[in-house]
Amino acid sequence: MTTPYLARNVESDAVRPAFANWLSSTNDLTSRFVAAERVPGLINIAGGLPAPETFPVEELAALSQAVVREFPRDSLGYGPTDGLVELRDAIASRFSTQSLRLDRSNVLITAGGTQALDLIGKVLLEAGGVVAGEFPMYAGALDAWRPRQPRYHCLRAEAGDLDLSSAKAQFVYAVPNFSNPTGKLVGLAARRALVDAAHRTGVWIVEDDPYGSLYYDETPLPRLIELSADLAPGEAYRGPVVYLGTFSKELVPGLRVAWAIGSPDIIQALTTAKQSAALCSNGMAQRIALAAMRGGLTERMRPKLLGLYRERRDALAAAMDEHLSDWFEWDVPVGGMFIWATARDRSLDTDAVVSAGLKTGVLVAPGRVFDPQGEDRSGLRLNFTLNPPDRLDEAVRRLGAAMRLLYEQVA
Ligand SMILES: Cc1ncc(COP(=O)(O)O)c(C=O)c1O
Repeated sequence: MTTPYLARNVESDAVRPAFANWLSSTNDLTSRFVAAERVPGLINIAGGLPAPETFPVEELAALSQAVVREFPRDSLGYGPTDGLVELRDAIASRFSTQSLRLDRSNVLITAGGTQALDLIGKVLLEAGGVVAGEFPMYAGALDAWRPRQPRYHCLRAEAGDLDLSSAKAQFVYAVPNFSNPTGKLVGLAARRALVDAAHRTGVWIVEDDPYGSLYYDETPLPRLIELSADLAPGEAYRGPVVYLGTFSKELVPGLRVAWAIGSPDIIQALTTAKQSAALCSNGMAQRIALAAMRGGLTERMRPKLLGLYRERRDALAAAMDEHLSDWFEWDVPVGGMFIWATARDRSLDTDAVVSAGLKTGVLVAPGRVFDPQGEDRSGLRLNFTLNPPDRLDEAVRRLGAAMRLLYEQVA
């Protein structure tokens, strides 16, 4: 007989302690990526990884030594849950504008944007609550909120489909700058409409912005939190937008230093949730990030980073024109890290493309994992930042071979 705490393990028929229900519906992308790492010669264009050659190794090595010596308590001891005060001040001043007035009470430091997404789920989402946003949606956000088993409501901001009240959403999740996976940039009018709708209905907007510094061809559009502050200029920020930023794509991801900016009440709530999740952030990483900011390291890195990624985006787009246009269509993004290709044959399940790609030596990300309803499987995400142009060309040639393999099998 089983107690409520025990479940039967089907394979061995032994009685085993059970796991929570939500674990039965996780996405298998990460484990497939890890398994693929072991395939010799495979080219990975599936992930969202920065180019390691952009990492400022010597500068960060020197800063690591310096911060431990100069700030041993901050670096090596427990620190405040909401983050190093000087770093919160520096983030507040970096993001302040004439109408967006920020101080440290508006800023929480997190372990990557990923931790901020997890905390958002804890403080804004009731079990089974509704999250509104554009589909396809960032798989990491879906993963972060899965323990709450939310329902999803699709918004189409560009098409003016922004009915937040009837959606009964607990918050809107938006990645206006070069969404992951689609690379799409949300235009100014749609940004304004979204912010207006949130102010009118009192619904939170979570503005997730890891790619905001990766504009290759255009000048950056205003952030949603800036547009929100414009609606009540001159006051300390109290609006409905929670802005998430990270050093992962503009410096290095390994530091795991990121920030949430919002009204003091939501920062307080997120801090309460963080206390039980992490107690405090990594002090050494925060000190290094602060020193990198103060020394202008990210600004110095930016031109090289943008030049490299622009060239790689163009190389990927050219290779796709040559090898994939019979089967897929896409827009070339003006920033970010991805090109999103949709199959001309909308019934194509791109999981089959991933399997065929593993045979021809390329790994891509299938559309299914970005669709919270599990309905649209015809998309494919291709990353252009990790590999140099010749490898990107070879990867897409292999993907073309995979498509031929797939359609020969079907015929
Ligand atoms: C849309 C989006 N949000 C958040 C993150 C989290 O990044 P990190 O946890 O490294 O800050 C990523 C990473 O790829 C992302 O694509």
